[in-house]
Amino acid sequence: MSRVYNFSAGPAVLPEEVLRTCAAEMLDYKGSGMSVMEMSHRSKDYQNIIDTAEADFRELLQVPDNYRVLFLQGGGNTQFAMVPMNLMKNRVADYIVTGQWAKKAAKEAEMYGKVNVIASSADKTFSYIPDLTNLQIDDDADYVYICQNNTIYGTTIKELPDTKGKPLVSDVSSMFLSEPMDVSKYGVLWGGVQKNVGPAGVTIVVIRDDLITEDVLPGTPTMLRYKTHADNKSLYNTPPCYNIYVCGLVFKWLKEMGGLSVMKERNEEKAKILYDFLDSSKMFKGTVVPRDRSLMNVPFITGNEELDKKFIAEASAAGFKNLKGHRTVGGMRASIYNAMPKEGVEKLVQFMDDFEKNN
Ligand SMILES: Cc1ncc(COP(=O)(O)O)c(C=O)c1O
Repeated sequence: MSRVYNFSAGPAVLPEEVLRTCAAEMLDYKGSGMSVMEMSHRSKDYQNIIDTAEADFRELLQVPDNYRVLFLQGGGNTQFAMVPMNLMKNRVADYIVTGQWAKKAAKEAEMYGKVNVIASSADKTFSYIPDLTNLQIDDDADYVYICQNNTIYGTTIKELPDTKGKPLVSDVSSMFLSEPMDVSKYGVLWGGVQKNVGPAGVTIVVIRDDLITEDVLPGTPTMLRYKTHADNKSLYNTPPCYNIYVCGLVFKWLKEMGGLSVMKERNEEKAKILYDFLDSSKMFKGTVVPRDRSLMNVPFITGNEELDKKFIAEASAAGFKNLKGHRTVGGMRASIYNAMPKEGVEKLVQFMDDFEKNN
């Protein structure tokens, strides 16, 4: 067996230890005589799996007691609709547009009410985070929306905006559990797990109690109400059982690694190796304003499309997979999530250095 270094933006690399546990427990989960895949979601064993996953998640992210943790389906794109359907009581919301995902979320919300784009970095292909210090928050806004880590462009909002008392809603998909967060600063934070937390098919929503109400927009389906899932502890219907189990194993792994502060240090160390190389290279350049650089997604270019293609092909042949940039930006992108070992980044940088010398 040989494993590659997988720099995919998502679905993405998972900790090898977790995959080994999945393999070992595949046919017989802890003496139950069946796989977690075959288990009723109403069984005692499964209840224990989902309860433990939630408890470990809460411990890792230090989720306060007045927040619910929901394991949902439908991916990020469903949250683009669920957020307005559940929160847009006045039918007004403010969106900060720092990339394609925030733009898509704003567009979806326009189906339900008035959307104000109160800051944007579209003018420079989302290569920076706009000034968020003194935003014009609409008095009637039901919430302020951000995408905190921009997977495609490789930027991160490092200082949260002052929302003037309005609930902050944040898409944290591509930075989920990569560093500690102060949950109390958010009304809702949510992420698709397929980047840093587990296999595609689960979206974790962390939502403050007072935002879970029956007062949702008319026509909001039962399945798209946060209240449905909060009242039923994420077991209203059949959840993505196996995927939640794998997320639970990732939470255990994160705890064994020392928790989110340790992950942050590791992630800073890994990102520094790559950014330092990009800053010293004559061939490769980072595409993002240094201040706003993401620890998770690192886009870079050579400035020559043919050379980019050659690099991606040769890197792939050498076992560095999925380095092609997003189809809307081109170039390269290395996603270096929690489960990417430091050694993977060091070897990539060595490979880039050799490529530069030979081309
Ligand atoms: C930050 C962010 N938000 C939302 C999405 C969309 O998620 P999904 O494909 O689960 O709908 C992605 C997907 O890559 C993403 O990176």
